[in-house]
Amino acid sequence: MLIGIPKETLKGEHRVAIIPSGVPELLEAGYEVIVEQHAGLAAHFSDEEYRNCGAIIADDAESLYRQANIILKVQAPGAEEAKLVRPESTLICQLTPWENTALIEALAERSIQTFALDLVPRTTRAQSMDVLSAMASISGYRAVLSGAMSLPRYFPMLMTAAGTIHPARVLVIGAGVAGLMAIATARRLGAVVEAYDIRPEVREQVESLGADFVEVSVPETDTTSNENGYATAQSEAFYEAQRSQLSDCVARSDLVITTASIPGKPAPKLIDRTMIHRMKRGSVIVDLAADRGGNVEGTVLNEKTDVDGVTLVGHTNHPSRVPVHASQLLTRNLVNFVLNMTDGGRLTPDMSDDIVAATLVTREGEVFFGSDKPSKEEAA
Ligand code: NAI
Repeated sequence: MLIGIPKETLKGEHRVAIIPSGVPELLEAGYEVIVEQHAGLAAHFSDEEYRNCGAIIADDAESLYRQANIILKVQAPGAEEAKLVRPESTLICQLTPWENTALIEALAERSIQTFALDLVPRTTRAQSMDVLSAMASISGYRAVLSGAMSLPRYFPMLMTAAGTIHPARVLVIGAGVAGLMAIATARRLGAVVEAYDIRPEVREQVESLGADFVEVSVPETDTTSNENGYATAQSEAFYEAQRSQLSDCVARSDLVITTASIPGKPAPKLIDRTMIHRMKRGSVIVDLAADRGGNVEGTVLNEKTDVDGVTLVGHTNHPSRVPVHASQLLTRNLVNFVLNMTDGGRLTPDMSDDIVAATLVTREGEVFFGSDKPSKEEAA
């Protein structure tokens, strides 16, 4: 079977699904690998390197899609690109399926077998295929650098002949994978860090990284997280209580990084205009939830704006700004994902495998995502 690696088409996407060093492992498993010309260039990998690792280079996307049985991609294909995917072939990529209903229907209609990497379960066995964690970690790191570059102040404490510089104060809201990496990065740069999460169980992780956990007492709720470890959506009264209690902490921070997210739902609004107004001029907020509606009132998607003298950064796709290592981690995730359902150079997805069952989105004309998702037994 021929695995195809197309050049990403989304504007600003610099990553590639498989870097040259990932090719030999796929060849050893019995596949052949074809890579679109210049697919790795934006991530600094040349066609020559792919050739040296045993891949074939396709002249263009049409030629690649015509030949490949399995497509490995970073982003979901656009509407036009999706038409190039061969009927009966397999597509494996990040799909944000809850936002891409039309694309999923189109793939199902053409009997394409689709796996969404963003649905890989958060289990120990699936950790090495967990694209969301690998990319969120890079986002947390990059958010701190982006904030530091926008901040008109030093991060570390410095005692100089010209006087003492006090360390920057950083607040991280949402201490999941991205938030924990943001805390660690801000600490390494010398900031004093505070962090808050709706899930009280993360306090220990926050403190182990040298940050203070911010206490917020909110209205009684049954639960703030589900069985998968994800935060659950709350009432507006709950969010109002969060905003009012976080307000002092936001006001004393030089840099705020927000990462709060609820899978499949709009991001909760945790910072409003009044809170921004209380911050010092020159302070910075990096809203990592910008592409899900934002945690901050007034975030402009993919823009850096000024709100009452505070810089509000709404950039998205931070992993694409670290394309070498982001592509290296994606390669590991994708190779592991493919090998988990490979036998003798062929894809052999087994629906009794929880990773396969959780990620399968379309097959043989059927959609396996959403409320009508058939049971494992029906799908097998
Ligand atoms: P995420 O990207 O869905 O959310 C980011 C953070 O925002 C989470 O920590 C969440 O609790 C927080 N949040 C949501 N609403 C909030 C609010 N109103 N106020 C403050 N914070 C709020 O989460 P992510 O980073 O993808 O991971 C969530 C959890 O999933 C992890 O902490 C862990 O428990 C679990 N996980 C397990 C893995 C494994 O076992 N292999 C791998 C990765 C994550």
